[in-house]
Amino acid sequence: MGKFWLRAEYILTKFDKRYISPNHIVKGIFRKLNRLLNVLTEYAINIILLFFGSEKLAKYLIIKLEPKDYMNQWFLQPFNGQFVRLKHVINLCDDFKPTVCIETGTYRGSTTILLATLASRFTYSIEINNKIYLQAKARLQNLDQKIQLINGDSAEEIEILLKNLSPIENQLLVYLDAHWGEILPIQDEIKVLCNWGGKFLAIIDDFCIPTDSGFSFDVYSGVPIGLNLIPEYNGLEVWISTINSGLETGAKRGTAYIFSSGLSREFSASAMTNLKQIR
Ligand SMILES: C[S@@+](CC[C@H](N)C(=O)[O-])C[C@H]1O[C@@H](n2cnc3c(N)ncnc32)[C@H](O)[C@@H]1O
Repeated sequence: MGKFWLRAEYILTKFDKRYISPNHIVKGIFRKLNRLLNVLTEYAINIILLFFGSEKLAKYLIIKLEPKDYMNQWFLQPFNGQFVRLKHVINLCDDFKPTVCIETGTYRGSTTILLATLASRFTYSIEINNKIYLQAKARLQNLDQKIQLINGDSAEEIEILLKNLSPIENQLLVYLDAHWGEILPIQDEIKVLCNWGGKFLAIIDDFCIPTDSGFSFDVYSGVPIGLNLIPEYNGLEVWISTINSGLETGAKRGTAYIFSSGLSREFSASAMTNLKQIR
């Protein structure tokens, strides 16, 4: 009997204090089972991949799946599959000719690939989540020598990057899309860009367009990502598209185009077609 109590006491001390009530013990067991199930599912997927070879399996799935089942995944195409935004960006870059592109929030790297075609020198993409960063790195590794993925927080990493970029020799195209964490980095990112002192055009994803409810946007602590969040730096201009959301494709997320001081005047009328200044 004594041995039994010793054993029971040992088992109890092994439990975290949170699990001591029966309710917590049951919840704890379910949590552990759930974790076990996740691990087993991951093992099962890895064994299938090992058996078929991931490339073979991917090709098999692509043949078997209907294109509509995967092509409408926003993260498989640049700019969430939004062709109107893509057209604006390409028109602007025809005039602007960025030397360097910077993206905040890499995710699968689908926009990174496009940005690399627009920059004459280099493209950087910053991702905070280590697992996502490694996945994107594996996906992009053989694609382009002029892409560098960075694992870290966007506002901090942009600051480090910009210290090594001459504002006289470079002009930046920046895609601000690091919107998944608890803290929204946009204001810090824009401040760092303004302090850098060179020319930049920043595109903000998930931006609230009050005049067109067909565009969706992100809300942080009850505050939408919108004009109110763009710092009022001297001469910083905010522009949006005049093209109706009905004509946009893909995820139809709102877009803002931020021009550094005086930059918008350097663009031709055709590059600025269908864009209007809201500040
Ligand atoms: C919407 S996804 C980016 C999609 C990608 N730009 C594209 O066009 O395919 C947002 C990404 O930002 C990352 N992220 C969130 N907060 C971040 C931060 N502070 N710094 C860097 N990356 C961040 C998330 O982990 C996520 O992968």
